[in-house]
Amino acid sequence: MPKAHIETFGCQMNKLDSELVRASLVSAGFEFVNRIEEADLILFVTCSVRDHAETRALSHIGNLRAFCRKRPDVIVGVMGCMAQRMGAELTERFPHVRIVCGTRAFPLIAGIVAEATRTGGPVIRLDEEFPENGPDREPSQRPSRHSAYVCAMRGCDNWCAYCVVPSLRGPQVSRQPREVIREIEALVADGAVEITLLGQNIDSYGRDLPGDYSLADLLEDVNAIPGLLRLRFITSHPKDLGPRIPQAIARLDKVCEHLHMPPQSGSDRILKLMNRGYTREYYLELVGRLRDAVPDIALAGDFIVGFPGESNEDFEQSMSLLREVRFQQCFLFKYSTRPGTRAEKMPDQLPEDVIVERHQRLLKEQERIALENHKAMIGREVEVLAEGPTRKKPEMLTGRTRRNEIVIFQGEAGLEGKLVSVRIEETTPVAIYGKLTNTSPV
Ligand code: SAH
Ligand code: SF4
Ligand code: F3S
Repeated sequence: MPKAHIETFGCQMNKLDSELVRASLVSAGFEFVNRIEEADLILFVTCSVRDHAETRALSHIGNLRAFCRKRPDVIVGVMGCMAQRMGAELTERFPHVRIVCGTRAFPLIAGIVAEATRTGGPVIRLDEEFPENGPDREPSQRPSRHSAYVCAMRGCDNWCAYCVVPSLRGPQVSRQPREVIREIEALVADGAVEITLLGQNIDSYGRDLPGDYSLADLLEDVNAIPGLLRLRFITSHPKDLGPRIPQAIARLDKVCEHLHMPPQSGSDRILKLMNRGYTREYYLELVGRLRDAVPDIALAGDFIVGFPGESNEDFEQSMSLLREVRFQQCFLFKYSTRPGTRAEKMPDQLPEDVIVERHQRLLKEQERIALENHKAMIGREVEVLAEGPTRKKPEMLTGRTRRNEIVIFQGEAGLEGKLVSVRIEETTPVAIYGKLTNTSPV
């Protein structure tokens, strides 16, 4: 049986794409191995969102040059966003790369691998040839038995000035509600109890479909699927989060009290340059509305530090927004210039040392807030979906609260995929520890 290995970079959508690639290759007779040295087929599912993501993938790909010289039969393929962005440049720079496949051609990966094996390659399949979305997944091919990602929509129409995603993943295409629901029913029948709906801009789900079916309707329909315990959706764009969403989170029992809604900046001037379509005041108003409807909601955010033209004052606005909202979790990114974006051509690109310094300050502040948030949990009893043993201590399990906090507690392996109660006893900035109090709270 030929052996395959896959390395995944980037966002949840890429993780899902890797699962789909895996499913097609398993049906085509491949066996997956963890050790790259044992593989006959090595695939990289790549990300272009920041320069760092590309550099890491490129260095992994480059490192295989000597290995491929010794094993000329091995096929190396690059898939996903960076493959779409660089195209044939990849095979020119790395002659040992024999497949380049964009973000929509991956359902055809088995045929592409067969072609590369037959011809020696390179086989280059970019998305211009494939207008369609990916197919339904194979429910058995997912890394976790009890949690699964499900694609609700692909692509993005927002064109934030810094972002490469719309140019690499194309315009927004929502899947038909009945397809999404059918897939979730199959996953639940196969043991999944937690579903995360994915879309680059999930709040605008349905806008490209006929009729007025929206994300709130999808949440309602998925919530009604028997056997499902938890439902999440990412990522939310503040300008598209409609008035029915806070109500849906409050009303639908399976929809978790957690929302990833990146502000990106706290300065109106920068938000405008970024083309985000909302103001700081609007963002805060939305946070207020969400907290009125769902008092215990956990908000996660992303900020970009050092966007072109960001003054010290603009940066302080981001700092104060971060303090005011008190995010449960924040992803803080140093601005990275991406080829072909509008921001690339903007004046006043900031020097690296200024960006690094601001980034450090924001990180420190978020760490302080996270620690305070965690400390406030001590003594509380929370519902946790047990996920599996921790890497270092197999007798300890990790799991997530409905608010998406990771909790570590002692418990036996049979609890995986079950809802349990845990009393929080100790916290650090990165972890929350608790004691199991009930193994069948529902
Ligand atoms: N569609 C999602 C996320 C897309 S990429 C959304 O709009 O929220 C994930 C995060 O990467 C973004 O939220 C943004 O904070 C960050 N990001 C995107 N482009 C970037 C760039 N050029 N430099 C630094 N961070 C970037
Ligand atoms: Fe990129 Fe903006 Fe679309 Fe998110 S909403 S994927 S940041 S263009
Ligand atoms: Fe990266 Fe593409 Fe996702 S650029 S963040 S892998 S959509």
